[in-house]
Amino acid sequence: MELSVQHEELEQLFNQVTIAKQEWEGTMDCIADIVILTDTRDKIKRCNKALHEFSRRPYGEILGRDWRELMTEYGLLIPFDCPAGAELYHEESKKWFVINFYPFSDRTENVVSGVVVTLHDTSIVKRFTTELEKAYSDLKSTQTKLVQQEKMASIGQLTAGVAHEINNPMAFISSNLSTLAKYVERFNEFILAQSEMAETFCDKAAIELLRNKRKVLKLDYIMEDSKALIKESLDGAERVRSIVQNLKSFSRVDDTMCKNADINECITSAINIVWNELKYKATLLKELGDIPFARCYPQQINQVFLNLLVNAGQAIEKQGEIRVKTWHDSAAVYASVSDTGCGMSAEVLNRIFDPFFTTKDVGKGTGLGLSITYDIIKTHNGEITVESTPGKGTTFTVRLPLTQGKSNGSANTDSLCR
Ligand SMILES: Nc1ncnc2c1ncn2[C@@H]1O[C@H](COP(=O)(O)OP(=O)(O)OP(=O)(O)O)[C@@H](O)[C@H]1O
Ligand SMILES: [Mg+2]
Repeated sequence: MELSVQHEELEQLFNQVTIAKQEWEGTMDCIADIVILTDTRDKIKRCNKALHEFSRRPYGEILGRDWRELMTEYGLLIPFDCPAGAELYHEESKKWFVINFYPFSDRTENVVSGVVVTLHDTSIVKRFTTELEKAYSDLKSTQTKLVQQEKMASIGQLTAGVAHEINNPMAFISSNLSTLAKYVERFNEFILAQSEMAETFCDKAAIELLRNKRKVLKLDYIMEDSKALIKESLDGAERVRSIVQNLKSFSRVDDTMCKNADINECITSAINIVWNELKYKATLLKELGDIPFARCYPQQINQVFLNLLVNAGQAIEKQGEIRVKTWHDSAAVYASVSDTGCGMSAEVLNRIFDPFFTTKDVGKGTGLGLSITYDIIKTHNGEITVESTPGKGTTFTVRLPLTQGKSNGSANTDSLCR
């Protein structure tokens, strides 16, 4: 009787243990993380369904295997010194895992008898993080580019304003100098006439006195030099006027709209702006063809050629050539800027349109010039290509589509480019 009670109790206990085991196994199997229990020699003692599904092998072929070897076999390389928390990539499934290790102690003997290894699938978080990081970096570079473009537009506006302010005083300086030249001419004429009279009608002593005075005051030299001084000043004023004109036409504050514009004019105005810096080290060869007007934002196109010309100049170390060419076909206008400068290696060439990529010293280049140039050309549905040979030189070619055909129309600002 007692034996049968004991037997029943034992059976109940056994049932409870079985249920607990099943529940625990079910718990392990319903989580997505891979859980492995190994012995101290890295052999798999137990694992959950996630490993069985990952390896696509029956449990019989998994248990007893070295867990690292097994994972490596399935394309998940786990280095021996792999630290807890490391991120691992599985090429075949394109999944990311975070690995962790927990020492497993035998409760009865209280000694470490193995390790629990977990592999947590972080692919979704990783994907979102990567997308977020990319979106953030795109946003950052777009913001910087916008600030840079805004800055250029503000500089343009400021330049146009200053140019306008300089123009007014320059107008009366030039006009007064021309009048002064005429006045000096009359003074000189009068002095000469007076001297001749004195020579004829005065006595010897007076003539001598006047001649002496004229010599001491260096009047002959002054009469000649004052004409030269005025002429030089007039030339200077003319130069200021032309610089101001260049600044005004380059900044083109009125040309922020899309219009039919002469690309040759954009190029010429960019050259006028940078030439002072480049003329000491480069000879300029201009081969501007007879091209039709292209539909564009002229202020932005000026910016494109300014960037290309400055880069060309900076690529020439001592002395070289910059060639600017334009031509067209039935669909587009083309412009190229070539230099005989340092050229670029394939690695540099691969990255030149990336924002912030520069090979120039800190403070000399921001690495935004070509990135902005690329964006501008893209806005115009155009194309920018580059050919470069290290040590020989570089050619950038810009293609701007003739969306309006070959119209030589006057500038109109009625519609947008696209
Ligand atoms: N004509 C060229 N010859 C040789 N290298 C060039 C030329 N144009 C551009 N590069 C290379 O491309 C890089 C990027 O040019 P980009 O104009 O974008 O920036 P940057 O000139 O360095 O700086 P920033 O234009 O912002 O002042 C340059 O640092 C340079 O290495
Ligand atoms: Mg540049």
